[in-house]
Amino acid sequence: MCGIFGYVNYLVDRSRGEIIDTILEGLQALEYRGYDSSGIAIDGDVPGETTIIKRVGKVRVLKEEVASRDLDRAKIFNTHAAIAHTRWATHGSPLTANCHPIASDEAHEFVVIHNGIITNYKALKALLESKGMVFVTETDTECIAKLFKHIYDQSPELDFTQLTKQVLYELEGSYGLLVRSSHYPNEVCATRKGSPLLVGVKTAKRLKMDFVDVEYEKPSGSASAAAATTPLAGTGTSSLLRLDGGQLRSSVSRAVVTSGNEEESSLTPIEYFLASDPSSVVRHTKKLLFLEDDDIVHIHEGELHIHRAKSRQAGEAATREIQTFEMELNELMKGSYNHFMQKEIFEQPDSTFNTMRGRVDFSSGKVTLGGLSQWLPLIKRSRRLIMIACGTSYHSCLATRALLEELNEIPVAVELASDFLDRRSPVFRDDVCIFVSQSGETADSMLALKYCLERGAITIGIVNSVGSSISRQTHCGVHINAGPEIGVASTKAYTSQYIALVMFALCLSNDSVSRADRRREIIEALQKIPEQIQTVLKLEGQIKELCDKSLNHQKSLLLLGRGYQYATALEGALKIKEISYMHSEGVLAGELKHGVLALVDEELPIIALVTRDSLFPKVMSAIEQVIARSGKPVVICNTGDSILDKSKLLAALEVPLTVDCLQGLLNVVPLQLISYWLAVNRGIDVDFPRNLAKSVTVE
Ligand code: UD1
Ligand code: F6R
Repeated sequence: MCGIFGYVNYLVDRSRGEIIDTILEGLQALEYRGYDSSGIAIDGDVPGETTIIKRVGKVRVLKEEVASRDLDRAKIFNTHAAIAHTRWATHGSPLTANCHPIASDEAHEFVVIHNGIITNYKALKALLESKGMVFVTETDTECIAKLFKHIYDQSPELDFTQLTKQVLYELEGSYGLLVRSSHYPNEVCATRKGSPLLVGVKTAKRLKMDFVDVEYEKPSGSASAAAATTPLAGTGTSSLLRLDGGQLRSSVSRAVVTSGNEEESSLTPIEYFLASDPSSVVRHTKKLLFLEDDDIVHIHEGELHIHRAKSRQAGEAATREIQTFEMELNELMKGSYNHFMQKEIFEQPDSTFNTMRGRVDFSSGKVTLGGLSQWLPLIKRSRRLIMIACGTSYHSCLATRALLEELNEIPVAVELASDFLDRRSPVFRDDVCIFVSQSGETADSMLALKYCLERGAITIGIVNSVGSSISRQTHCGVHINAGPEIGVASTKAYTSQYIALVMFALCLSNDSVSRADRRREIIEALQKIPEQIQTVLKLEGQIKELCDKSLNHQKSLLLLGRGYQYATALEGALKIKEISYMHSEGVLAGELKHGVLALVDEELPIIALVTRDSLFPKVMSAIEQVIARSGKPVVICNTGDSILDKSKLLAALEVPLTVDCLQGLLNVVPLQLISYWLAVNRGIDVDFPRNLAKSVTVE
């Protein structure tokens, strides 16, 4: 994931060396997010000159590059604005040219760092090219830098905020953005939309205010307000061509540290830290200001102003609070959640989206996995696919095996890594072995990988941790891009692994005409998954109540599923036992009458997965068998399905309907929440359950 870090000092003497160290340390604090390259932009020796240094690879490599440059580290800057970035490439491969900061031109008039994706960059690029601009990177970000220059060249009288607003009117997509410019020395503009951004404030004196006013556009009449309601991007008749700076309103800002005395405020030494993530800022200051979407921060002569490009709407706050965080870093990173596990469960609308980001083109129905594309012809010719994993990762393999078989007609084996090794299972050169692992370091999976490599099989990794052993040692693979998972119980990694494997199945069958309809159906359904997970998360209140009233005191719990939902039952049972220490078992509904039914009485709680697919009637019959033995099941069913007389159920948890092979992505979420609330109610440290470690690096 990309990371943003910026540092502005005002009336605080800092040597160039100190400034460089501050921003490089800021980047290092963001490393855990995963990235492929990094870069910085600082002042050069000549006024107005910007020095940009960037490298592919770790921040360590960038540090070495900086150290090798002939920079005067002792030079003192009383006022300075530096920006830095770690990049997780989306448009354009991880090459030095594509690293951020990205400049508008060779003279570095405008220099930008950007998290997110500009969706209309092609149209903008075409427009800017038609004006004679020459693009030198493959990134979407370059169109932002060039847009700044283009608008500035037309209207150099604009101040930095006005200019930024004009640029934002043209952008579609998501962004966290920092910009510096030789035309506005020592100033920074920062803005966000769908991508987090915050500002840390550090002063020797106490802040006089713990909020900043938001400066809105005037409701109507002004040129800028008109532009705000006239989205022109991509149309070729852009507002960039008809700016009238004279009509733009002048700022009536207040600064962070004023006490109403403008003179005093402009003489207050102050430092600002801008970042996509608090972890890099809290080591400098605990005073944090979290920006909201569409906020435009302008830092200039020690003052911080927050502007909005549009007029104020009903219900919009007029200020942003500067919060004081006394918490430890760990606590802070949890945000408003009590545990990492809870946070990660609730992150799933974002993490599932990130897994698909840049890979699934919903408009054309095309799936591209860059890490596999060169290998696909070879993989398609394989005799067998063997999926190998442990624990939750193994369940994601089970959940997607049927789809792999259906779309590709290649036999698929699913193996627990330890058992696979114990059996010394035969592996051949024309086998493709797929290793699924969140950490990429699990010893059993690593040993199985070594075993398969020795036998000449092609190996694929489906891994969350970039740079992990499995990611490095497999021939090729897919990073699931779920973001770091800190809670020991795996939650968002499961849903992202699941989606990565579905994308893999779709990629493998991309030239099959007979399966085009099925592929389209799945791709359309994938697009809705993040939003549908959001809907499922609203069940938390009902689930907490169910746990409080009916499940807490139980010793044991059964989960019933069939077909695609068997994997969900197993995964739910694993979650429940690992963090609540309650015995739980996932049972294939068809197996009930072959033994398990003996356990059923009015006491034993049973959770049945009865969402609508072709096996629905069969699961219903299993439920009838349970009810006939005085059992009272909890059902996970689709919204609006009146499964049974409600009096016969302990509870019905309703989830949205999706296509059969993706339903498990939605059905698993209530089970994650049940395990979480059972554990919390029992006073268990959810993030660190007994006897378990996040990364199992021993056999
Ligand atoms: C890569 C970039 C991504 C960028 C995209 C488009 C990385 C980590 N990812 O993503 O930021 O948006 O190009 O240019 O640089 N691999 C393995 N084993 C594994 C996992 C991955 O060998 O277990 C390999 C892949 O084959 C590939 C590389 O690692 O060569 C990166 O994989 P992945 O991040 O999934 O590839 P892209 O989606 O192309
Ligand atoms: C369960 C869990 C474990 C892991 C297993 C494999 O919540 O986290 O079952 O899934 O230890 O770990 P990875 O995926 O890192 O290989």
